[in-house]
Amino acid sequence: MKRFGLLILTCIAAFSAMAQRACYDIIPLPKEMKVDSTQVFKLTAGMGIAYDADNAECTRIAEFVQEWVKEATGMRLLLTPTDKASLIRLSITAPAAPKSKKEKQPALTEQQKESYTLKVDNSGINISAYEPVGLFRAAQTLRKCLPVVKEQEAAKAVELPYATINDQPRFTYRGVLLDCGRHFFPVEFVKQFLDVMALHGCNQFHWHLSEDQGWRFEVKALPRLAKEGSVREKTVIGPSRMRIYDNIPYGGYYTQEECRDVVRYAAERYINVVPEIDMPGHMQSALHVFPNLGCTGGPYPVAPHWGVMRDVLCGGNPQTLEFLKTVFGELCDVFPSPYIHIGGDECPKERWQKCPQCQAKIKELGLTDETHVKVEGDGGRGSQDGRSAENKLQSYINHEIEQFLASRGRSIIGWDEILAGGLTEDAIVMSWRGTKGGIAAAKQKHRVIMSPNVFAYIDHPQLKDYGKQPRTTDSYVVSCSKMYSFEPLVPEELTEEEGDYILGVQTNLWTEQVAYPEHALYQLLPRLASMSEVQWCKPEQKDFENFKARLPQLKKLYDRIGVVYCNEVE
Ligand code: ACM
Ligand code: ZN
Repeated sequence: MKRFGLLILTCIAAFSAMAQRACYDIIPLPKEMKVDSTQVFKLTAGMGIAYDADNAECTRIAEFVQEWVKEATGMRLLLTPTDKASLIRLSITAPAAPKSKKEKQPALTEQQKESYTLKVDNSGINISAYEPVGLFRAAQTLRKCLPVVKEQEAAKAVELPYATINDQPRFTYRGVLLDCGRHFFPVEFVKQFLDVMALHGCNQFHWHLSEDQGWRFEVKALPRLAKEGSVREKTVIGPSRMRIYDNIPYGGYYTQEECRDVVRYAAERYINVVPEIDMPGHMQSALHVFPNLGCTGGPYPVAPHWGVMRDVLCGGNPQTLEFLKTVFGELCDVFPSPYIHIGGDECPKERWQKCPQCQAKIKELGLTDETHVKVEGDGGRGSQDGRSAENKLQSYINHEIEQFLASRGRSIIGWDEILAGGLTEDAIVMSWRGTKGGIAAAKQKHRVIMSPNVFAYIDHPQLKDYGKQPRTTDSYVVSCSKMYSFEPLVPEELTEEEGDYILGVQTNLWTEQVAYPEHALYQLLPRLASMSEVQWCKPEQKDFENFKARLPQLKKLYDRIGVVYCNEVE
């Protein structure tokens, strides 16, 4: 860590002596970096960016570089595709050929696809990567190194110390969830959210599109679903148990055209959009529109308060599967993601235990009770894990949907409750009630995404003093340092081979208490910076004090791009 400490001191000294100097102390920290602060390359306005103009992606990335240099420094660079004299060069290079001719060229790993080299020397700034995505990651690195000059004041030149950066991410899945079910966020904000994710090297946007409190995805075959299911009559003020409401109707949904626009925007930033339709629980907004799909027949309001609702899709009604196939079919038409999230969390089985249709289905399938295990730490919600007949019925529904999605070439992701009735063949487990679900799934050779609530839930406060921040889900604090300390691969828990099933880590922004874009950003930042090092860096690179010392530079960029963030870090 000494090296980083020294680098920071060098940067601070350089910054005060000469404001327009780049500093490589960025977040997330690149994998390898050699800096020679005794020599600098001077970047000045009017210099050119060379790139392959026949490649649309390279062209767009060159435009990003131009935009980001202007944003931070005020200097305008020129796009000079083929000009050899240009001093910023973006190039795609072929991987090294195998040593012997007999060997086949190995396919690039996902991490190698995102890797890049950024070299600064007397010839300029040379960026090379195997794929455009690598160039994009490098462009973000360059952006974060640049000094942010005062607005309205363009720098005359920026000095970049000579450096060689070889970078690639640790994990291939680096996700962030935005819950647009509890509160609806306009497309413009979703795009800003994606920009912030890209700044932090994230590559998976988990878009939570359905909730008890609102259905947000247009399904063309079921036009009433979004029109009526997206609107609740009122919203609870304060704790749900008090049942005090604002009496103001609240709604909003995304048309398929808007969703496609978001997918396109995300793809230009090398982010995959993982859509989630949460089933068979968290479905009260759909039950409002189609009460025949519930065990009791309703009526069901779109939920006006928070919590886990007893009314869920009926597991025995054949129309349930028909409904789900219609919804997931259209979801596949709109979202090209290789993974589709089917939810699966918090589905109480009280209704199923009493419902003749559910019980008849259990009998027909020959499902029997094995064990009931009460879940500790589920916030008193009375969830049951274990191989009960009802949990197996949920597993049967998952299996049907998994098969349906497989026929469209997709894999399912589900919250860790999907372990309870037995995992379906190809399911990816998103572990949220701690890490034990993820560990159990990896041991069963299932792919896993770790998103344990106590480390990764950013609907919770980030400071111990609740009075210093907007009101949020306040049962425990997820501070920046707590989040930073998360290590998903603990050798006592997982062997190296089992560890290979951990695709990555995700942070989740649930929005029961987060109604406005500025508040969402406040919850997100700077915790996403903290999360980005969990997702990107090797454990031996991580040092929270060092991270904190690097944060001010990133905050200057937050200020420049106009995003709200929490200014204190604990
Ligand atoms: C969850 O937080 N219920 C996945
Ligand atoms: Zn039922």
